[in-house]
Amino acid sequence: MKISIVGAGNVGSLAAFHIVREGLGEVVLLDVAGALAKGKALDLEDACAHLGVPYHMTASDDISALRDSDIVVITAGFARKPGMTREELLDKNAHIVKDLSLAIKKHAPRSIVIVVTNPLDVMTYLVLRYTAFFPSKVFGMGPSLDAARFRNLISQAVAVSSRDIETTVIGTHGESMLPLPRFTYVKGIALDEFLDDKQVQSLLQRTKERGKEIVSFLGTGSAYFAPSLCVAELVSAIAKDQKRTIGVSALLQGEYGLKNVCIGVPCLLGGSGIEKIIELKLNGSETAALTQSAESLRALITRIP
Ligand code: NAI
Repeated sequence: MKISIVGAGNVGSLAAFHIVREGLGEVVLLDVAGALAKGKALDLEDACAHLGVPYHMTASDDISALRDSDIVVITAGFARKPGMTREELLDKNAHIVKDLSLAIKKHAPRSIVIVVTNPLDVMTYLVLRYTAFFPSKVFGMGPSLDAARFRNLISQAVAVSSRDIETTVIGTHGESMLPLPRFTYVKGIALDEFLDDKQVQSLLQRTKERGKEIVSFLGTGSAYFAPSLCVAELVSAIAKDQKRTIGVSALLQGEYGLKNVCIGVPCLLGGSGIEKIIELKLNGSETAALTQSAESLRALITRIP
């Protein structure tokens, strides 16, 4: 299995480490920035030697090195700075993602593409547009990160291991994300058995703002420890045909009453990519919020030249 990671920055290089460490395949690490990928790859080689795990990685600044990849992860582009929203990255990153999509279509026409670059849902939509791949082959990582953050905050609030907490986050990976308390359980028990409405609302808000909070402390760049793990989780689901149910940004074609928009929803993931989009039974206010979330994305999409 050949797995190419485009963008050897914080998220890309750390994701490469997890993927190599797990032995998921041969990794190609790519970056336009001169010998950056080469330097990261050598460092990772030392790390693997130290751990005693096999090292299967090459590095390049030539995009054609992704030729015949089975999986391509796009982590190339700008990350936000303090005070910025993910949506404000649109203009800068749309050009990068367009060029990369055309290169992927040319060199790796049978690949499954995992998009990470922000603003996530719009970038996923652009990759679909420019590769013209089947919608099951292109999806974005974001909802699983938001779900992990929600899980962590609930775990702290109820003092139960995060391993026993199941969370669901849908909608955009952005300002209008929708963590869903009605689909959140602590070892099968509904969240409202543990927390009152005010406490839940506070956790929802903190989940939505977690990325911003991290960026404000980092000063430059955005989160990468949790994001890179979430990338590796998706690669693993495909490489090992795991049939996992994970939230990703996927193209909706009538599901949830929405069409022609990539947005976060739970999906069944396996060796062929998205094997099923799972439709939760949303109530009226959840449906309205998801529809509004989709409208905010459409407004962004129309801004792209
Ligand atoms: P970073 O700045 O550390 O790395 C980005 C890398 O992309 C740089 O090394 C740069 O040289 C490279 N690059 C730029 N244009 C390229 C091109 N055309 N081809 C190959 N490489 C290119 O940024 P970081 O922290 O790794 O984040 C990357 C992206 O992922 C950002 O857009 C960020 O907002 C996004 N992100 C998304 C998350 C999600 O949940 N979807 C979570 C965290 C970050």
